[in-house]
Amino acid sequence: MLITRQRGDTYSTTYSTNSISYVTQLNVKADFFSFKYSRVIHKSIMSKTELNPKRLEGKTAVITGGSSGIGLATTKHFVAEGGYVFITGRRQSELDIAVNQIGKNVTGVQGDVSNLNDLDRLYEIVKQQKGRIDILFANVGTGEFAPLGSITESHFDKTFNVNVKGLLFTVQKALPLFQDGGSIILTASTSASKGIEGFSVYGATKAAVRSFARSWTVDLKYRKIRVNTISPGPIDTQSSRISLDGLAQSEQQLDRIKKNLTGTIPLGRMGSADEVANVASFLASDDSSFVTGIELFVDGGMAQI
Ligand SMILES: NC(=O)c1ccc[n+]([C@@H]2O[C@H](COP(=O)([O-])OP(=O)(O)OC[C@H]3O[C@@H](n4cnc5c(N)ncnc54)[C@H](OP(=O)(O)O)[C@@H]3O)[C@@H](O)[C@H]2O)c1
Repeated sequence: MLITRQRGDTYSTTYSTNSISYVTQLNVKADFFSFKYSRVIHKSIMSKTELNPKRLEGKTAVITGGSSGIGLATTKHFVAEGGYVFITGRRQSELDIAVNQIGKNVTGVQGDVSNLNDLDRLYEIVKQQKGRIDILFANVGTGEFAPLGSITESHFDKTFNVNVKGLLFTVQKALPLFQDGGSIILTASTSASKGIEGFSVYGATKAAVRSFARSWTVDLKYRKIRVNTISPGPIDTQSSRISLDGLAQSEQQLDRIKKNLTGTIPLGRMGSADEVANVASFLASDDSSFVTGIELFVDGGMAQI
């Protein structure tokens, strides 16, 4: 699991599939050299990934949490494939950086997904600028390390407010603008399927997300809107790198944590945000036109064994 140090002394994650103790207590013998080697192979695979510049041509997408990590990588893919993307995040400064980086066909809208007024403002802007949504990637998620016995009401409320309430209203409030035949993609996590020490609340929220996808698939079937879930395993986002660094007191400890983590993944490495974006592009596009209600794991096999 990956922990981020945010504001003051609070440790939290915006992702996570393993708990800190899970990582540190596991005594899996992973070979660090094979870990590094696999990253070289991985880079060469990624450099061969070809995006189809027409696949999302004419489509308008909304991606929550699009200023960083998986959301940012997916925004880049969608724009490269011809789409126009509205991205959200709480920090205007990070949104501005992302919008400048992407350069075209993207609008940043500041807001917190757990604030319903912010969601109304987001969709009002989309309505004014484009008048429609074809693709929604409800991607924001947050989590904090809290083993049973030390779960506080504020921890519970914050995690459910963002991951469950925020995601639900992100989707529901998009529906009036949603085109029939569109695609909704929800970000869950392998934590929904595996018991992860210290992550029961986060895992429960992600299980709720997976469950939403099942019910919403039938709620929206008359409009031919597809609803699918992506469940990432450990993904090498900027925040996860900071988190891993924050966990370790020394380089040796950092290596050990990485070895233990990657040792739990059959493919022997963390995934990249691009690899999740590839899957999101597939689910957003007509290439997945007969795919709905599924949970697609992007986890290197971690939760499959
Ligand atoms: N990385 C992993 O290993 C992993 C594994 C499994 C599942 N996931 C899931 O994948 C999703 C993305 O994770 P990530 O690693 O890409 O995260 P990330 O790099 O930390 O990016 C999170 C994004 O969400 C925004 N955000 C956070 N809280 C928000 C809120 N309340 N309202 C609006 N925007 C908010 C952030 O911007 P601001 O901070 O400016 O708001 C940022 O743009 C999450 O749902 C996470 O649970 C990640």
